[in-house]
This record gives sequence, C-alpha cells and structure tokens, in this order.
Amino acid sequence: MSATLATASYIGATILFILSLGGLSNPESSRRGNLYGMIGMTIAVLATVSGPHVTSAGYAWIVGAMVVGGSIGLFASRVVKMTQMPELVALMHSLVGLAAMLVGFANYIDPAASAEFTGAAKSIHEMEIYIGILIGAVTFTGSVIAFGKLSGKIGGKTLLLPGRHWLNLAGLLVVIWFGREFLHAESIDAGMMPLVVMTVIALLFGIHMVMAIGGADMPVVISMLNSYSGWAAAATGFMLSNDLLIVVGALVGSSGAILSYIMCRAMNRNFISVIAGGFGSEGGAPAPKGEGAQPAGEVNPILAAETAELLRESKNVIIVPGYGMAVAQAQHTVYEITKVLRDKGVNVRFGIHPVAGRMPGHMNVLLAEAKVPYDIVLEMDELNEDFPDTDVAMIIGANDIVNPAAEEDPTSPIAGMPVLQVWKAKTSIVMKRSMATGYAGVDNPLFYRENNRMLFGDAKKMLDEVLAALKA
Ligand code: TAP
Repeated sequence: MSATLATASYIGATILFILSLGGLSNPESSRRGNLYGMIGMTIAVLATVSGPHVTSAGYAWIVGAMVVGGSIGLFASRVVKMTQMPELVALMHSLVGLAAMLVGFANYIDPAASAEFTGAAKSIHEMEIYIGILIGAVTFTGSVIAFGKLSGKIGGKTLLLPGRHWLNLAGLLVVIWFGREFLHAESIDAGMMPLVVMTVIALLFGIHMVMAIGGADMPVVISMLNSYSGWAAAATGFMLSNDLLIVVGALVGSSGAILSYIMCRAMNRNFISVIAGGFGSEGGAPAPKGEGAQPAGEVNPILAAETAELLRESKNVIIVPGYGMAVAQAQHTVYEITKVLRDKGVNVRFGIHPVAGRMPGHMNVLLAEAKVPYDIVLEMDELNEDFPDTDVAMIIGANDIVNPAAEEDPTSPIAGMPVLQVWKAKTSIVMKRSMATGYAGVDNPLFYRENNRMLFGDAKKMLDEVLAALKA
C-alpha cells in the first residue's frame, strides 16, 4: 500500500472512531457505535500492516502476534463473566501502558530509529520517548493495582505512606533531573541509566497512586486510568510517528478525562485532586463491620409474596438496580416483573446511579441486554425528586448508591456523594442476601428505617418468586 493510500485509510479510520464515540454516547445508537469502531479498527490494522513501514520479513512476526493476541482476546471474551468486565478493562489498560513502555525502550535502542533524527528533532524524539515511557509505566502499574482492587485480590483499604505527597514530589523532581540527564546523554548506553531510573520511579508511582485511593473512589480511578491509557497510546503514536495512534490516543485520553470529570461530579469529588492522585483517602475510615457496626438496629424482613402484593397495589414503582443485580444476573426477571406490572397499569421506572455496579454504564448495559425500553430508564437526577410520590422503591442488589448516610452523616466515608433518595418513597424494599456492606464498606442506615423492608436472598431467586406470585 502506498503512503498516500495509508494516510487516506488512517483519515477514514479516524472519522469512524469519532462516529463510534458519538454512537456510544447513547444506548439506542451504541450498537452502531460499536460497529463503526470495529470497521475503523479493521481499516487501521490493515492499513498499518500493509503500509510502507512493514517489511516482508516483518509479516511473520505480525501475523504470529495477531494470532496469539486474537486467540487470547477470543478466549477472554468467552470465559470472562459480565461481573468481571471492570477487572478485564483494568487489565487491558495495563497492557496499553506496558506496550507504550516497551515501544519506548525498543525505539530508543533501535539504531535505525535514532539515526532518523538529528539536532532539535533528535531532542524532541527523545523527549517523546521519555514522556511516553513515563506515562506507560504509571498506567501499567496503576492499572494492575486497580485490577487487584476490583477483583478483590488486593483489599479496598487505602495505603497511606507517611509524607506521601513529599514522596511524590521528590519522585517528580528526580524524574525531571534524570530527564535532563537523558537528553544530554552522549550515547544510547549513557542514556539507558536515567531512562531505567525514571521507569522504576514511574512504576512505583503508579502503585503508590492507586494504593492510596479508597474503595469508594474506584469509579474515578477506572475512568482516570482509561484516560491515561489513551495518553499512553498517543505517546506511542509520537514515538512511532503514527498519526492515527496519536489521534486515537488523544480521543481516548480526552474522553476518559471527560468521563473522570462526570464520575467526580457523581461522587462529589474534586477533579484536580483526582488528577494529582492519592485522593479519596481523607474521608474517614470505613464503618466497622460486625459487632461494632453503626447504626445497629432491627430490620423488617418481608417475603416475596408480600412484596408482590405491595407491588400489585402500587401506582408508582421505582426500581434501583445495583451491583447485586449483575452478580445474580437478575435483569431478565426484573424486566418480566416490569412487563407484568405495566400491563396492570403500574408506572414502573428505573433509577440509575452514575456509579452503580462496577463500571460506568454497567446497569444500562444489563437493562439493555434484557430489552428494557430506554424511555423508562432514567438517570438519578431525572427522578430523585419523584420518590415522595412513589409507592414502592425496589432496590435490587444496591447498597452504597442508596445510603442516606451520604447525605446525613458528614463523618461517613461517602459523605457528600449524591445518592438515590429511596427512603422518601412510601415503602422501600431492599433485596440482598445478608446485612453485608457494599463496595465502600459502609453500613447502611436505610436498612433500619421504619418504612424499609428487607427481602433477603439471591436477587434472581427472590425475583423469580415475586414474579410467580404476581402471575398467580
Ligand atoms: P454495592 O454498594 O457494592 O452493593 C451491592 C450489594 O449487592 C451488596 O451489598 C451485596 O449484599 C448485594 N449482592 C451481591 N450479590 C448479590 C446477589 N446475588 N443477590 C442479591 N444481592 C446481592 O453496589 P452499588 O450500590 O451498585 O454501588 C456501587 C459501588 O461500587 C459504589 O461504592 C461505587 O463507588 C463502587 N464502584 C463503582 C464503580 C463504577 S464505575 N460503577 C467502579 C468501582 C467501584 P449481600 O452480600 O448482602 O448480598
């Protein structure tokens, strides 16, 4: 393929990626968005592989790598459960970071690549390598730790080293100092030492940054690492002089940054402190579990048949799904119940919290899979004022996102986070298996409210019983 044709293909792929992002912003157009993305990526890969930079000797390597990578991807897509998607995404971000690091080192030690640049262009190229490896290393270890935290392999508690801000500052100064050394290095061998020292610091910084972040703030970490992975890809594009990678990386980086901003707003966190890292740890310790848990009290259990009765008699019902619905895979039964109630003239709507579940849009994906009509799926802000006129608020495997302590207890670790005000409904019914806390590890005073009922059990099993009672 000629260089001109490759450039034209890259422009076409870029347009498709932009259309893809546009499509993904709405559930109704998201399938189309995915399709644009797939076509764009196919064009991008084909144009790169058949482009002028690849020699015939390189094909065997590329095809081999594609077969290995493609097989792993295919395998992962078959075995990874929907509830493990956030971990998978974090792991994929780490690979983008690792790739940026490796490309940086390969580019630096490749004599052919360095020979292409002289004078100021050489300094700029080396700066690209240095910054690219830096971003890649932070993204790599940060994402690995995020993977550990999301999968429960690493505890959600924050790790706060003494003087951590000073440590970070010292790390930054050392990175700047060695950056100067790197740019002034006479030979590749001489430049290796500063490059390696910076890489080690960046790897440690990635670990330190995410370890210092509290469990409740993980949604922001995910979107932030998403953004970092985009910048790492853009940096790789600069190192390889690949315009498409620069544009796509910048698209991912900036959309991730916008998503981080949205997540921050949803959790009432400060965006600047998020970018600086190590946030969300000053909000107090999670409430003690077990005997010391506050506020302890009596809860009012309810049976599935009684739940069905309450629902049948209601005019307005709001369903609030959370992570437990994803675990139980209860979305199809939820929709069956919704259909039965709507047929009886009950106004049923869904209230979606921006950080419900474990990844942005988690609940929307599940409800779309169950074919719940989009017009009854509303954002938190769209229906929070409607709870006082609601007969039953049915909370399915949600906990932190309906915790009144966020509004009422300034010492709570999730204080200030906007939540769905389900306790204002005439009756709220919480469907979960036990009195265990949610992801943030905070006790939930909602459970002890007089107008709250607890329907204990697996969400799918309980909803099946409710459905059977409704149909009886
Ligand atoms: P959580 O607060 O984590 O609560 C989920 C509840 O579901 C748990 O209390 C659990 O109680 C219950 N559950 C689990 N399996 C169940 C099953 N099979 N059947 C019935 N219930 C089940 O979830 P949420 O309310 O959706 O809030 C999300 C939390 O995750 C927030 O703290 C948020 O910050 C965090 N987070 C979100 C994201 C994104 S981007 N959305 C990313 C990372 C972290 P039992 O064990 O008693 O059943």
